[in-house]
Amino acid sequence: MSSGSNMTPKEIVEYLDRYVIGQSDAKRVIAIALRNRWRRMQLDEVMAQEVTPKNILMIGSTGVGKTEIARRLAKMMHLPFIKVEASKYTEVGFVGRDVESMVRDLALEAYSLAKKEEAEKNKEKIEAYVENKIIEKLLPPLPPGASEEKLADYDRAFARKQEQLANGDLDHLRIEIEIQAHQIDIASNPNVPPEMAEVQQSIVQVISGLNKRKKKEVTIKEAKKLLEIEAQNELFNEEEIKQLALKKAESGIIFIDEIDKVAVSASSSSRQDPSKEGVQRDLLPIVEGSSVKTKIGMLDTDHILFIAAGAFHLSKPSDLIPELQGRFPLRVELDSLTEETLYRILTEPTNSLVKQYKALLKVEGVDLEFSEEALRAIAKYSAIANEKTEDIGARRLHTVMERILEDISFEADSLEGTVEITKELIDSKLSDLVESEDTTRYIL
Ligand SMILES: Nc1ncnc2c1ncn2[C@@H]1O[C@H](COP(=O)(O)OP(=O)(O)OP(=O)(O)O)[C@@H](O)[C@H]1O
Ligand SMILES: [Mg+2]
Repeated sequence: MSSGSNMTPKEIVEYLDRYVIGQSDAKRVIAIALRNRWRRMQLDEVMAQEVTPKNILMIGSTGVGKTEIARRLAKMMHLPFIKVEASKYTEVGFVGRDVESMVRDLALEAYSLAKKEEAEKNKEKIEAYVENKIIEKLLPPLPPGASEEKLADYDRAFARKQEQLANGDLDHLRIEIEIQAHQIDIASNPNVPPEMAEVQQSIVQVISGLNKRKKKEVTIKEAKKLLEIEAQNELFNEEEIKQLALKKAESGIIFIDEIDKVAVSASSSSRQDPSKEGVQRDLLPIVEGSSVKTKIGMLDTDHILFIAAGAFHLSKPSDLIPELQGRFPLRVELDSLTEETLYRILTEPTNSLVKQYKALLKVEGVDLEFSEEALRAIAKYSAIANEKTEDIGARRLHTVMERILEDISFEADSLEGTVEITKELIDSKLSDLVESEDTTRYIL
């Protein structure tokens, strides 16, 4: 299947189906909205300016797949996509993150996407650059006027190093390289996960035009990474990448999760945070379309697609300020999960819980086998628990599975062969628990 910005609505839905069960209305609406992004990009400039996206509001109780849909979209789209939580922002003038920062984050995302695409296009050039720089260190170049024989030797040695380098045979060797100072700080910080490091990298590079160079001894493995970044800086035209990123960001997607947390419920008597409404007011111009200053230039938000989502347990969509409601014309409701859906969620998705547990225990040499009735029973107890206490949707499956597999998980290292998970086992673990609301509440 294809992936990326030219996927058809059907393909998008098919892709989502692999991970998210049911919720077909939400998937359809989103698929159409995404296709419209692509359609607009095919229009001539004048017409494209006229077509503004219809923002989407996803409403559904907790644990039914709202965030999961967003997470999957983010992985599939080759459009800049960020997911933010409305509750993390504060009104302008108060301490905290202001709402405009989500647009700046989108810009950075677009920048790293543009850079990644560029790197993909120039892969060979970058590889050659890195290779030459490293081999230069290992095989000092011959002095001018070297004999034919020496030159031929050198070429042979060079080819040999090339091969070793490609195989990773030299990865452990240490060499001294000279690199832009800020690169070293990031690459060697163990607290930064690789994907964040990449983003940070872009941030730092965008911010600092500075070119301070520093010598550092690193392993060849590290040198490859550092030199790759340097190669990009050398080979790419920064201005062009920013322009490309800006264009991408203008038709990017911002997913605003937990939007209900900034709604001010009219019915609630409890003291409410007045700055919530401020956050909504701050959101307005961004969703309406305005220009925001970002590291890659002025970013026009007119064509950014906003998808907001919330459980709306304590508030209603109508508790949002009317102007903001009006900017989310497409409403989709996600269904609560029935016993049947829970059963499917347990078993069907590519990464289903059952598959995850099986894979985990396989590491210990244990083959977990769930009987069909056992799976049905897990879904049934999960549904009962959701009914008796709060409905936490598919998250209930996690707590129930943990409960069932706790002992096996604990002892797995001393078990061997196949372990059958039967309906009897599940009944014995859960039937008493779900009898009482209290035990269900505290244990499941
Ligand atoms: N329809 C579904 N299909 C497959 N998995 C699901 C589905 N709904 C929920 N899940 C799983 O349940 C967990 C919680 O789902 P998710 O984070 O999407 O909830 P949510 O709707 O965003 O809830 P909240 O309002 O609390 O944020 C995730 O692990 C997700 O994979
Ligand atoms: Mg969520």
